Amino acid sequence: MLVGLLFALLSVLFLDAKGEDCIAGAVTNLTIYSNANLSWDVDPNEPCQIDEFLVEISIGTAEVIYYRFRVKETHSDVSFLDVCQRWVYIVTPVSGEVLGYQRQLTEYIPLPADTDLTINHFRAVKLAHGIVHLEWSLVTPIPGNCLYRLEYRLVTMDLQSGEINDHYIRSQSYNFHLLSPCVPYELSIRAINSVGDEDFEGPAMSTNVEMDPYPEDPPTLTSIQSSPTGITMVWQLESYLRNRCPVVNFLVDGGKYVNITQPIRDHFARDPVMVNLTHLQPDRMYYFKVSVENLGGISPVVQVAAQTAELEPSRTAR
Ligand SMILES: *[C@@H]1O[C@H](CO)[C@@H](O)[C@H](O)[C@H]1NC(C)=O
Ligand SMILES: *[C@@H]1O[C@H](CO)[C@@H](O)[C@H](O)[C@H]1NC(C)=O
Ligand SMILES: *[C@@H]1O[C@H](CO)[C@@H](O)[C@H](O)[C@H]1NC(C)=O
Ligand SMILES: *[C@@H]1O[C@H](CO)[C@@H](O)[C@H](O)[C@H]1NC(C)=O
Repeated sequence: MLVGLLFALLSVLFLDAKGEDCIAGAVTNLTIYSNANLSWDVDPNEPCQIDEFLVEISIGTAEVIYYRFRVKETHSDVSFLDVCQRWVYIVTPVSGEVLGYQRQLTEYIPLPADTDLTINHFRAVKLAHGIVHLEWSLVTPIPGNCLYRLEYRLVTMDLQSGEINDHYIRSQSYNFHLLSPCVPYELSIRAINSVGDEDFEGPAMSTNVEMDPYPEDPPTLTSIQSSPTGITMVWQLESYLRNRCPVVNFLVDGGKYVNITQPIRDHFARDPVMVNLTHLQPDRMYYFKVSVENLGGISPVVQVAAQTAELEPSRTAR
């Protein structure tokens, strides 16, 4: 096929251009079909007599031409090109040896519609808190080993709530974030080959994963109020969506003065926690280490300092 094209290139006719040179306009509808058929059209109102087309194929900036040949038809089979490479196709109409305006298209050679999309070995490896490393491969690898030529759809299903999420990935591995601990998930992956406007989907392969329990992030202080003998604090806990391990206790360690373990009944909204410290001394600074305990353990500690109010307002404005 390539040899035939080279012959076409060599057997150019040298016709005497009589009269004015005619510069043909650029071709239209330059497209590449899934069977690697590069095709284009000529404007029906093109005034020049077009004898043939110069087809040039390059990579990237179109500075180095890898293939150059001439064809008489308005299409050319370019299936000899590497499917992993993004090619620049430049088509120029030739009218009596005068080059017309060129048209460019930058595109991959499509993967055939019947590409085997069966997934092999779908693995999930737990990395850190909420992160799981996923990797998979195809039973029949794509020639040239360009993994990214297919898109993969990862579907995560929360087996507790039934919530489903889709993610589209262009590689054969992925570090997936935001999986909550204490929740079983079903993860499934399938390959998608987009050919023109049509998507071909391969069969899904699934695996189950449950992140090990881990502690909450430290709580956040949202309000604090003092009286002469008490301090009332309101704390926000880490979102239920990020860490669904049940919270069991709220801990306030104030050294020898105060040491509270407040039990928590955890439910979906994960309400703010109110802590009332009583029987404190007036006008005194207290230091607390605050943390929260869930099934995964005790969170990092937050340190707070709070001062009780004076017993009675003794200062007067000057
Ligand atoms: C390539 O496309 C052109 C125009 O659409 C068509 O005429 C031709 O038959 C196609 N060739 C192949 C091999 O599909
Ligand atoms: C380009 O393609 C469109 C849609 O297929 C068609 O209507 C139009 O006639 C084509 N242009 C030429 C110059 O053939
Ligand atoms: C407060 O209580 C916890 C657990 O009940 C204990 O581990 C900690 O040592 C106590 N803190 C002080 C200062 O006694
Ligand atoms: C804390 O004290 C406030 C009033 O000072 C009261 O309304 C609230 O119910 C108390 N909360 C707890 C958990 O004791």
